[in-house]
Amino acid sequence: MTARLLERFARTKLGFFPSPVHPLPRLSKALGVEIWAKRDDVSSGLAFGGNKIRKLEFLAAEALANGCDTLVSIGNIQSNHTRQVAAVAAALGMRAVLVQETWTEWPDEAYATTGNILLSRIVGAECILEGRGYSTAVKETWEEAIESVKRQGGKPYAVPAGASDHPLGGLGYAAFAEELAHQEEELGFRFDTVITATCTGSTQAGMIVGFRAEARDRRVIGMDTAADAAMTRAAVTKIARATADLIGLNRAIRDEDVLIDPRFAGPAYGLPDAATIDAIRMAGRLEGMLTDPVYEGKSMAGLIAMARNGELPAKGKVLYVHLGGAPALSAYHSAFA
Ligand SMILES: Cc1ncc(COP(=O)(O)O)c(C=O)c1O
Repeated sequence: MTARLLERFARTKLGFFPSPVHPLPRLSKALGVEIWAKRDDVSSGLAFGGNKIRKLEFLAAEALANGCDTLVSIGNIQSNHTRQVAAVAAALGMRAVLVQETWTEWPDEAYATTGNILLSRIVGAECILEGRGYSTAVKETWEEAIESVKRQGGKPYAVPAGASDHPLGGLGYAAFAEELAHQEEELGFRFDTVITATCTGSTQAGMIVGFRAEARDRRVIGMDTAADAAMTRAAVTKIARATADLIGLNRAIRDEDVLIDPRFAGPAYGLPDAATIDAIRMAGRLEGMLTDPVYEGKSMAGLIAMARNGELPAKGKVLYVHLGGAPALSAYHSAFA
């Protein structure tokens, strides 16, 4: 268990945790596998929340302790991450400066003005539309944004893409594992398979670390959404090992702990394929649960395909971790026309 290991890290409360865990009975019946959802998509009141809120609880605490007044981050135009940074900054009385890159070409006029970026602007973020291509590398545009805050007399706090490649980036989801273990105690059973979307890596990495602290192993399957499973694997492995070191976990993170499934990423980051769109419709129509074309629709497509292929235990219980993302749906309205 990680609670003792995480105690020494300051945390700013930004969400309503524990996030709910509930069964998905109609989806389970349709797929012949018992599926539950853990709803990190409905765990914060900050501009619809999502998985970055858990991570930002740790980063924001450090930003406040260091006397910073501006969060500077980077992501795609339709980044859920930058939207959550924007909302956290607003709630803490800080500025948010966001570099919004073009990570994907989605041929819709509204793509660059609606969905996440609209919400970021409403909560007061300054959005700089600059840069192209998905990569977890440090970008000059982001460094320049940080410098420009300094030139203006501000004190920036740098939040990398996805709040991932940051010393504290894995802590939020390491804590998630402990939270889930308490919920399982109340439920009286344990999930043997956990399915999550993965991209910049610290969500899955944190879970791996948190679950590794438990007595029994469980399978955490990261459905790649970057359409570059090697890059995703490298990011998850690096962050998991750094987080394990940081918290003083006394068990090594093994290569086999990092499971990345490349099959459901679609043609590119941010581009859904037919399976993604079908999965979004299926979860919506059977459970009223909204998923998105960039992340959760892809992990849902993976879950559905694995259930249909007999790759999930018919007698076990599968946990689908819902990480948010539905605020991007309006930017993809033409996919559902
Ligand atoms: C909705 C949603 N799901 C999944 C992910 C993937 O999480 P991570 O970047 O920590 O791998 C993200 C962010 O990138 C996201 O916004």
